[in-house]
Amino acid sequence: MSAADLVVRRYSHNDLPKIRQTLIDVHADAYADAMDDEFNQRFPWFVDHWGGNPDFDCVIAYDGDEAVAFAYGAPSTPYREWWREHLDPAPEKDRTFSYSELAVRTKWRKTGTAELVTRSLLDERDEDLVVLLVDTEHPRVQELYESWGFRKVGERQPFPDSPVYAVMLAELPLK
Ligand SMILES: CC(C)(COP(=O)(O)OP(=O)(O)OC[C@H]1O[C@@H](n2cnc3c(N)ncnc32)[C@H](O)[C@@H]1OP(=O)(O)O)[C@@H](O)C(=O)NCCC(=O)NCCS
Repeated sequence: MSAADLVVRRYSHNDLPKIRQTLIDVHADAYADAMDDEFNQRFPWFVDHWGGNPDFDCVIAYDGDEAVAFAYGAPSTPYREWWREHLDPAPEKDRTFSYSELAVRTKWRKTGTAELVTRSLLDERDEDLVVLLVDTEHPRVQELYESWGFRKVGERQPFPDSPVYAVMLAELPLK
């Protein structure tokens, strides 16, 4: 089982009806041990929220017909990025892509698939920066992002029932 055998396809806002259930299914598998959490159960709302953005950008990796991983996000609204309150002064180049979600089916873990979909998504972006949120109680996931060049710039809890997240920022293109 290797990420080299996967085919990565790219999708946009107009594709949402076609890929919506695929994203929900891969997410349910990836978060199988945490789906009793009501916040995780709200994932379809987040898919519709992000997918409803006209600039939604998504990649899905397939093993034959089976979707095994996805990564998606959308450009941040200029001057209203999550990271802005944590960095003063702001970097000179500040156009930012918000990397919203990454999920890999459990049986495809530790195969390089997370990096494959992350780089496939971000290599095509022309923004200066990429920002993401990672649960502060998942330090190993934070380390994974650090290995791709992200650094923690602060913490944030966007919803009362959401985890406390580390705000992580990297320059594009990723190293
Ligand atoms: C995060 C993810 C894409 C990384 O996939 P991967 O590169 O194949 O790497 P792994 O699955 O081995 O994860 C890396 C480490 O993070 C840990 N980890 C992954 N997801 C985690 C989660 N949701 N909660 C807590 N720890 C998690 C793993 O246990 C592993 O730790 P280890 O090296 O000590 O075993 C994949 O684990 C996943 O889909 N997780 C569930 C969804 C998720 O957390 N997405 C990230 C949102 S910011």
